[in-house]
Amino acid sequence: MWTVIATWRMALEGIEKASAMLDQNIDGGEALEAAVKEVEDNPYYKSVGYGGLPNEQGVVELDAGFMNGSTLGVGAVCGVHRIANPIAVARSLSEYETNSILVSEGAEAYAKEHGFQQKDLLTERAEILYENRMKETGKTVLKPYNGHDTVGVCVLDIKGHIDAGTSTSGLFMKKPGRIGDSPIVGSGFYADSAAGAATATGLGEDLMRGCLSYEIVRRMKQGMAVQEACDSALNDLETELIQQRGHCGDLSVVALAKDGSFGAATNIKDFSFTVSQSGKQPIVYVANRADKHTFYEPASQQWMDDYMHERMKPVSRL
Ligand code: GLY
Repeated sequence: MWTVIATWRMALEGIEKASAMLDQNIDGGEALEAAVKEVEDNPYYKSVGYGGLPNEQGVVELDAGFMNGSTLGVGAVCGVHRIANPIAVARSLSEYETNSILVSEGAEAYAKEHGFQQKDLLTERAEILYENRMKETGKTVLKPYNGHDTVGVCVLDIKGHIDAGTSTSGLFMKKPGRIGDSPIVGSGFYADSAAGAATATGLGEDLMRGCLSYEIVRRMKQGMAVQEACDSALNDLETELIQQRGHCGDLSVVALAKDGSFGAATNIKDFSFTVSQSGKQPIVYVANRADKHTFYEPASQQWMDDYMHERMKPVSRL
């Protein structure tokens, strides 16, 4: 039996692709890469890859991470500007003993040298949204997007091998060089084939304060069920941040356990995530929290239609 789970509705097309691969017994890491690439290549998903929204200087700057839960190999790229599929480079780097996390020019040089596709990542649509934001005053608060942020994927393949990976353009209008949780192992993603995997989305600065993905896998390794591990780790981090700092940003996670069960937790309204399991159709769920527990149900057709309508609606200059 295999399971794949990913943050947000935007992962659906990629998850469909990965599901067909997992059915054919293709390695989980390869399926994960294919799923994330699909999101990176889609110009309408404005927080990942091509079409991602730029930093405050108008430059699209991408981060990605990958972890192989059987070797504990980790690869990541941070702050890259011309790499079409950062997840592919991160996965490739996870095979190295050293030099497996590369930033900026070093990552670009590695990608070029190893034949990874180069691409101009700024679309006209993203440029218009950037110019509009520059014209607006008093609206420069950095926030993850509503319904849209890092794509994070966890895969359990037929052989019992578990992987996790992420890709993002980070926060709109971030400072050049800023990175969040997504390329940071333990914060944005973590995988251990002996227990499970988790991946996060939301405000990177706060997710990193609790190494949230690692914490979820650690709790599973100690015997906690996946849903309880997600809820308890996220709630504990939120409580601590509010106690210590007086506030907490958006936090959402998805995870799977080595038995193929899955979980999710969130402190936002209507967090969507996508799940596929062998023998079943992929399902997009919408999650909400009540009394410190996360509840989720399949997205309605109306919700699905509205989601794509919102992503693809025309944009024009102010
Ligand atoms: N969670 C993505 C970021 O903060 O960059």
